Amino acid sequence: MKQEQLHELLYQALETELGGFQVYATALRCAVNEDLKEEWTEYLEQTEEHVQIVQEIMETLGLDPEIETPGRKVVRHIGQALVKAMEMALSSGDPKAAQLVAAESVVLAETKDHLNWELIGEAAKKATGEVAKALKEAHDEVEDEEDEHLYHTTGWTRELWIDSLGMPAVLPPPEEVKKVETAIGAARAKQARGDML
Ligand SMILES: [Fe+2]
Repeated sequence: MKQEQLHELLYQALETELGGFQVYATALRCAVNEDLKEEWTEYLEQTEEHVQIVQEIMETLGLDPEIETPGRKVVRHIGQALVKAMEMALSSGDPKAAQLVAAESVVLAETKDHLNWELIGEAAKKATGEVAKALKEAHDEVEDEEDEHLYHTTGWTRELWIDSLGMPAVLPPPEEVKKVETAIGAARAKQARGDML
C-alpha cells in the first residue's frame, strides 16, 4: 500500500468530517420536519465524534492534523459550497424548498464520507501492526453510523421530494423505519415503500 496516499485519504477524511459538522449545523437550520431534525441532531453529534476518531488515527500514525494538502483543500471547498447552497435556499424564503436543498447537501457530503470510511476499512485489511489496529478500531466504531447517515438521508431526500410533488410519501422513510445499514437493505427498503404507504 502507498503510505503517502493513505495519509492523503486520512487528511481528506478529517476535512470531510469537519465540513460535515458545518453541513449538519446549516442543514438543521433548514429542517422543518421534526423527525428529520431529531435524526440530523444525532448525526451532528456522531460527526463531531468522527472528527476526534480521525484525529486519533493521525496521532497513532504521527501525522500533523493541521497540514494542508491539495486534496484536502478541494474537500473543504465542496463542504463550503454545500453550506452556501443551503444559505441561498434559506434566503429565498421557502422553508420546504430549503429543506430539500439541505437533504440533498447532506447526501452529497455523506457520499464522500461513506467512501472515505469504506477505503479506511480496505486499508485496515492491508496494513500491519499499530497502523492496522488503529484503522480497524476506528472503522469498527464508525462504519454503521456512516451507513445510517447516507442511506437514511437518501431515503429522506427521496420521500420529501415525492411529498413535494404532491404524491403519497413514506415519512419517516422506509430506510429509517427498517433501520437500514447496508446498500442491499436500502434497496430492499426502497422496493418495499409501496407497501408502507
Ligand atoms: Fe462521519
